[in-house]
Amino acid sequence: MTTLTTAHGARPVAVVTGATGGLGAQICRTLAQAGFAIVAGYRSSANAAHALVGELAGDGHCALCAPVADSAALARLADAVATRYGRCDVLVNCAGTTRFVAHADLDALDDALIDDVLATNVRGPFAMVRALRALLAGSRLAGGGVVINVSSIAAQTAMGSNVMYCASKAALDNLTRSLARALAPTIRVVSVAPGLVDTEFVKSMDSAWRDEQAARTPLGRLAYPEEIARAVLAAVRELRFTTGCVLPVDGGRPLS
Ligand SMILES: NC(=O)c1ccc[n+]([C@@H]2O[C@H](COP(=O)([O-])OP(=O)(O)OC[C@H]3O[C@@H](n4cnc5c(N)ncnc54)[C@H](OP(=O)(O)O)[C@@H]3O)[C@@H](O)[C@H]2O)c1
Repeated sequence: MTTLTTAHGARPVAVVTGATGGLGAQICRTLAQAGFAIVAGYRSSANAAHALVGELAGDGHCALCAPVADSAALARLADAVATRYGRCDVLVNCAGTTRFVAHADLDALDDALIDDVLATNVRGPFAMVRALRALLAGSRLAGGGVVINVSSIAAQTAMGSNVMYCASKAALDNLTRSLARALAPTIRVVSVAPGLVDTEFVKSMDSAWRDEQAARTPLGRLAYPEEIARAVLAAVRELRFTTGCVLPVDGGRPLS
């Protein structure tokens, strides 16, 4: 197994946005288990973020405010990371937002929702990279700094919670390619694109609908959060010659 510690033994640092969400929390757990010090980024869930930090394996973790649509706050976040750790090796852009709107109901997809989806799912990841670029570029992790953008199968299939959510994830994948080119060779940028994941939120939805989604997936089920987190870890730790691409974790759903 690849070692993560640098020559002087310090733990590499991973900043995860949306850290208290169904996927974000598992990504934090998996990266902490793998030896990273975690900065759990939150917007409104400060208490949950501090509780998560308390249960992570290893030490050196913290919870910091990371509202991705507020660039001034992200500059303060970058300063706090620099002061506390002096480094940032991995950024996982996991914060995301959406709301269910039938694709044919154009009037229900109002401008406020469109602006929120685009500011959070597209501008937010870009703003995080912009804020942490200098720290990521200085990473001493083997293979350099890494940005993981948590995208979605919806970018490819144009099927998802609403039209603009699908478009936002397609834009995010495009951002992944542009930034990978712009930031090479010091920083790699990879999208991890889950299919429907069996998070608490998805578990709370109509079970017949969930069963139908599973039945339409060649591998016959939804993804587990652990599988998305392991894909993130693999892209960071193992896929060192991979950048500017989308790694699907969807059970082959687009094939059916
Ligand atoms: N779940 C799935 O089936 C699935 C499938 C494909 C892709 N994805 C993608 O995976 C990512 C995580 O999904 P999830 O299911 O874990 O979502 P979730 O449980 O709904 O959590 C969303 C997270 O995003 C954060 N967030 C929302 N707006 C934010 C903002 N403006 N600034 C900072 N943080 C913000 C929330 O933070 P606070 O609570 O602190 O406000 C929360 O932690 C998203 O990008 C989503 O699009 C999910």
